Amino acid sequence: MKGVVLAGGLGTRLYPLTTITNKHLLPVYDRPMIFYPIQTLAAAGLRELLIVTGGNNARDFHRLLGDGHQFGLERLQYAYQKGEGGIADALRLAERFAHGDRLVIMLGDNIIEKSIRRHVTAYRRQQRGARLLLKQVANPRDYGVAEFVGDRLARIIEKPKQPPSRFAVTGIYFYDATVFDIIRTLKPSPRGELEITDVNNAYLQRGELEYDILDGWWADAGASPAKLLETNLLVARQRGVAF
Ligand code: DAU
Repeated sequence: MKGVVLAGGLGTRLYPLTTITNKHLLPVYDRPMIFYPIQTLAAAGLRELLIVTGGNNARDFHRLLGDGHQFGLERLQYAYQKGEGGIADALRLAERFAHGDRLVIMLGDNIIEKSIRRHVTAYRRQQRGARLLLKQVANPRDYGVAEFVGDRLARIIEKPKQPPSRFAVTGIYFYDATVFDIIRTLKPSPRGELEITDVNNAYLQRGELEYDILDGWWADAGASPAKLLETNLLVARQRGVAF
């Protein structure tokens, strides 16, 4: 299994913080945002990672992260997404790197408290398809949201006005190599992006989407300046800083 961190996009919701730098290079407590998803994947046992960058300062990622040895990685590769075509458009660039292997994808602005090792193990045991990590949130309208029929996941709805549950789809996804065939069938959404929610619904329609509930806190640090601040505080408190 290999890991992919998606760090493209323009980060417009954080302007002017992101006018001249990439969102994922902004500080979260004592390190750049991008360190956290890399550390999460490395701590889960992944040794080969691809970072998809985009927008501003793509070369700075290489200066900052180099060959990934500081994270215990054996291989760290880079790809560059032109424009802001969406999460599934950024993932498209990982096809050669994946080389038929299964992937754990993490959005570059998602920061979590605990290990995902048990979910990686569960996915290794899963015969086929994809796996999501869900988390109960107070503001489901801001995310992809799970609709259930009983315990069964029936549909994912992206940023619904009337959320069918409080379970948000976190930015950690487990996919097999058929994900690239699914991406080739996608059409841009009304916001002009290839949506990761459409990928997940395609797996659902094939009856090949499973899920776990994520333990500990989950932060979407890039959603707004307030979320960025809150994530800084969550991380600082976890490190024992008292305010
Ligand atoms: O954080 C979880 C949520 O992420 C999910 O619940 C949603 O279903 C999913 O659509 C996504 O929603 P956001 O609106 O928060 O996505 P955002 O545009 O903020 O992008 C999140 C990350 O994805 C970003 O930090 C980098 C990467 N990305 C995004 C875009 C639009 C790319 O690499 N390229 C892109 O073109």
